[in-house]
Amino acid sequence: MRRKIVAGNWKMNKSFPDAEELIAEIADKLESMDTGHQDVILCPPYVYLEMATDIAEESVFSVGSQNMNENDTGAYTGEISGPMLTSMEVEYCIIGHSERRKYFGEDYALLAKKVDAALRNGIRPIFCCGEVLPEREAGRHFEIVKKQLDESLFHLTAEQFQQAVIAYEPVWAIGTGVNATPAQAQEMHAYIREQVASKYGESLASETSILYGGSCNASNARELFSQADVDGGLIGGASLKADEFLRIVTSF
Ligand code: PGA
Repeated sequence: MRRKIVAGNWKMNKSFPDAEELIAEIADKLESMDTGHQDVILCPPYVYLEMATDIAEESVFSVGSQNMNENDTGAYTGEISGPMLTSMEVEYCIIGHSERRKYFGEDYALLAKKVDAALRNGIRPIFCCGEVLPEREAGRHFEIVKKQLDESLFHLTAEQFQQAVIAYEPVWAIGTGVNATPAQAQEMHAYIREQVASKYGESLASETSILYGGSCNASNARELFSQADVDGGLIGGASLKADEFLRIVTSF
């Protein structure tokens, strides 16, 4: 059965002491919770990853980065590579977040290379897809998401694809307080699963975790996660407070 997952995407937030306090609090509270049926992933900024993986060693959560470079080494000032992440025991990497696509010009071809770089280094990609509002209003949301999957993820072999997690994040829902309705999320998640099935077969599709992201919080998570094809969430703002985040973790 596919895994239920709740991942926290901290984006560019928190000082080092605040980050350490939040991760320690989450680790502490997770200890007394039954998390056997869901995976918890924390994706803090790069500079806090080592601290996070240190704490994770004694806890049940895993650590992911929010980005990575597509090259393994070399003269790329300011960049972080797959081997660096692996050497800090980082297990996941968010790839294709709409903020990276929009503010950093990450296009289909680059994202495909980042997915490859992740897998080459034993890192599981959390691949984000989702349409902007005008695309949804024009009824093009399925077409857009299909293109994002086709161009940057579906070049993988079935064996490689098994490592991937997909996050559907409608851009109009990210950080806006307007989440997709459970019906809208379910409709798109079922569509994504169909696309995976037609590319990789039913069995792999049924094993693929597809997360919802975009203004998911402790008040709406349960209804979103109760949808048949919604396997958890990629949580931004609501992952920055331990209690709220952990209420989401237990919303299955
Ligand atoms: P949000 O962000 O939960 O703050 O809307 C989600 C995301 O960008 O991953």
